[in-house]
Amino acid sequence: MTATLTNPLRVGLRQERVISPQCLVIFGASGDLTHRKLVPALFELFRQRRLPSEFAILGCARRPWSDDEFRAKMAAALAPVIRDHPTAWEQFASGLFYEPVDLQQSEHLVRLAHRLEAIDRLRATRANRTFYLSVSPDFYGSGCRALADAGLLSDPKRSRVVIEKPFGRDYGSAEQLNRIVQACAQENQVFRIDHYLGKETVQNILVLRFANTIFEPIWNRNFISSVQITAAETVGVEERAGYYESSGALRDMVQNHLTQMLALTTMEAPGRFDPEAIRNEKAKVLQAARLANEDEPWKCCVRGQYAAGGSANDPLRGYREEPGVNPNSTTETYVAMKLFIDNWRWQGVPFYLRTGKRLPKRLSEVVLTFREAPVHLFDAAGGSPTANQLILRIQPDEGAGFVFEVKAPGSGMRSRPVDMHFSYDESFGEPSDEGYVRLLADAMLGDPTLYTRADEVEAAWRLYTPLLELIEDSPWQLPVHPYEASTWGPGASDSLLASDDLMWRRP
Ligand code: BG6
Repeated sequence: MTATLTNPLRVGLRQERVISPQCLVIFGASGDLTHRKLVPALFELFRQRRLPSEFAILGCARRPWSDDEFRAKMAAALAPVIRDHPTAWEQFASGLFYEPVDLQQSEHLVRLAHRLEAIDRLRATRANRTFYLSVSPDFYGSGCRALADAGLLSDPKRSRVVIEKPFGRDYGSAEQLNRIVQACAQENQVFRIDHYLGKETVQNILVLRFANTIFEPIWNRNFISSVQITAAETVGVEERAGYYESSGALRDMVQNHLTQMLALTTMEAPGRFDPEAIRNEKAKVLQAARLANEDEPWKCCVRGQYAAGGSANDPLRGYREEPGVNPNSTTETYVAMKLFIDNWRWQGVPFYLRTGKRLPKRLSEVVLTFREAPVHLFDAAGGSPTANQLILRIQPDEGAGFVFEVKAPGSGMRSRPVDMHFSYDESFGEPSDEGYVRLLADAMLGDPTLYTRADEVEAAWRLYTPLLELIEDSPWQLPVHPYEASTWGPGASDSLLASDDLMWRRP
């Protein structure tokens, strides 16, 4: 079964908001993110005619590149896309500029301010500026200070700052960073990015819940028995050992991406569709969340690290053999845990979160399992009827599925589970934009709905504090269990659910 569009004509009507003339300034422009995500997303916006003609991108980093060198680097990185759209690229690239800037040098900031004024004159960007900090996280605070000291954040209507993840590395550092940032800019100027919120299917959690009447009445502890949130990756650490070694899966994926999926799945309906109303509800539910065993966190969490695996044709090395990784590393590449949310809607419902690298499939999903029928009238194929499940598929194969029992064909009255599914691809026929396309547009529009507010970030860190402290103070209590690359993580994570008589979904 598939879902079809009730009124396909409506789909074509994109309600695009208009981005004002402005200059997007990227700090860290020589880094990976700029050519892998940011400039491709901006070029996509340009091709969708969503950027104003009065627009400029100013790349900033310490390297002494010229405008032309920066354009050439970006062109090389985007070569396959440009091949299909050479004229559009030429027009787009005329708005690309570069300025060598070290954020620690005040005279560089003075030069930057002059350069921005010159760009305003050249491109009519009217002193509207979005500053994107794609620098090392150690410089988020000092970067904001440097911008504020140079007077570049003084107009809250014209200047904004986007801050990449990770925002802090624990509750204390996130709180401190918030204090610094808020001394430099008003909260409505600050855009803390979590690229998962840019995914169409993550946003769809809100629409599915609050634009339909059938889900909300059963979206609670009376009908839902457990929830699983998974973000599985097939890739290993790639070239990012330098960052990942001091981060690990808990900081890299759980505190941000999985927690955002948790918040959208569990929040109350906002009073209206408004950034603050939505973010109030997300912050509120995160404040009610806790680890299943806060005092003995080792009982509700399992950590793992991938060991060598794969097949004879495609052997995969273990994490400790990856370039740049300490051969005795105890950084987790897999983590699974159990949480509760102590509020009226969710009290007693276990939430299981897991994420890992080098798992057999790339997949992110939220699975809500409903309570079983109170009486079993029919024989079920496989012994007992399968509980109803609603599966929100974040990626790939974006969409949703619903598992329910039907009568198995034949003369008896046996039941069997079937799967009804909705696919974005089949229903809408066009691929969704990359998360950064949506998020960059929103930042330039000044719409923070899909960005994380200060209190949300702090609530998310607070939630995992007992685990972070345990890993710091007595790591032997939360050992990293090795798991073979391309398997579903360490066996110990199955015991986390087995004690509740449950199993991880194996998609
Ligand atoms: C990033 C993490 O935030 O998200 C990476 O740092 C991870 O380690 C990535 O691979 C996953 O994002 P996506 O969009 O590919 O699922």
